[in-house]
Amino acid sequence: MVEHIESPVEISLLKALNPFSPGAGRQPATLVGREHELELMDLLLARTKAKRTSQGIIYRGLRGVGKTVLLIRLQNMAQKMHMPTVRIEATGNDTDDYVELFKGLAKVSRNVVNTKFRQRILNIFENVQSMSVNVLGNGMSVMKSTGDMYGNMPHSNAYQLELLIEEISQAAQDSDLGLFVFIDEFQEMSSELMGTLITLQHRMGQENLPFYIVGVGLPDLPEALTKSRSYAERLFDYRKVGRLSYEDTALGFQNTVAKGGRKFNDEALERLVEDSQGYPYFVQAYGAAAWNQSTISPIPLEAVERGEAEARRSLDEGLYASRWQRATPAGRTYLMAMASMNDREDEENGYATGKIAECMNRDPRELSKMRGKLIELGLIYSPERGKVAFTVPGMADFIRRVKPSAEQIYDKQS
Ligand SMILES: Nc1ncnc2c1ncn2[C@@H]1O[C@H](COP(=O)(O)OP(=O)(O)OP(=O)(O)O)[C@@H](O)[C@H]1O
Ligand SMILES: [Mg+2]
Repeated sequence: MVEHIESPVEISLLKALNPFSPGAGRQPATLVGREHELELMDLLLARTKAKRTSQGIIYRGLRGVGKTVLLIRLQNMAQKMHMPTVRIEATGNDTDDYVELFKGLAKVSRNVVNTKFRQRILNIFENVQSMSVNVLGNGMSVMKSTGDMYGNMPHSNAYQLELLIEEISQAAQDSDLGLFVFIDEFQEMSSELMGTLITLQHRMGQENLPFYIVGVGLPDLPEALTKSRSYAERLFDYRKVGRLSYEDTALGFQNTVAKGGRKFNDEALERLVEDSQGYPYFVQAYGAAAWNQSTISPIPLEAVERGEAEARRSLDEGLYASRWQRATPAGRTYLMAMASMNDREDEENGYATGKIAECMNRDPRELSKMRGKLIELGLIYSPERGKVAFTVPGMADFIRRVKPSAEQIYDKQS
């Protein structure tokens, strides 16, 4: 079957109705393969209502697997139960991260209907009167509390955070609620603030207070947490956000086009599942491109094939290029060496750092700084000692395909 869509009106209508949503943090029309995580959150919320405490939750996963989307869903679930919640994206800049946390805490009762809790929160903030001045004003990194409750001396942000979280958690418990702090890109957070939050999770647990950190980050996040506080190992339920199963991937395509009253035929679906390799971002990109290539239903294989170049382009722009540009020219030679090995198994499980050095004709010790910088930039991580892997699925393919010497990419960096 050959189908040509040429009319600009037809194309823009198709695009306007496209139910897929490729892009960082964009909620998919159908969230697939995360039922277990949603159940876990349901349980955590039910236990909180019943005044039973639990562990916080940490999710780790590669770029584009759906961590942000999941985090937002989990927060929505807590909000639906009228729990006080805060969500921040860690930046690594302590002042910014503290300001975001304080701002979130200052608004924590907005979604809560319980009047007793709301009143308690008002009182807590009256006692830390200068908070609003600080947060809404100049964002200074040290606040002074003026109320009786905390005395008149200046306190560090860490101390203020401790007081607030303790007070709010206590107030929450008295109203059968719990305080949930959702943290995206948790691995980015400074070790100091990360340590403060872990300590708080620990202390609140010991005091049986309902305070929960739900954090997401790159695969080496658990390691970063344990490095910050060794007992972090026991504090959280550590979980992985990974690739989708074959069935879930197929559902991700079929249930999404169903929202637009259409479906894919079997061949088209088979090809899409293969193209996407179970990566959620790929599902959205390949699905969106295939949708734009056909007006009929079921959508045929030819539409999927015609859309593949567009899908790759959208992934290049949305997922790869910006990450590539972040690396220094020296770091790029390292990434290129990894990609040039063209080894599927290494891509999955990590490349031996010795082998990379060999490929670059360098002494492995000379490369450790470069490697450290790439890890710090979140471009690679160490899945086990002596190995590194890309944090972005398909990055090696991108480097081989786009050939990073391609001008536009180098131009932007230099
Ligand atoms: N469970 C899912 N089912 C279908 N699509 C999903 C699912 N999770 C995420 N997506 C889609 O995948 C894309 C990436 O999601 P998201 O930004 O949450 O990933 P991420 O893991 O936070 O990536 P990064 O590490 O780059 O921040 C989005 O287009 C989103 O709509
Ligand atoms: Mg994200």
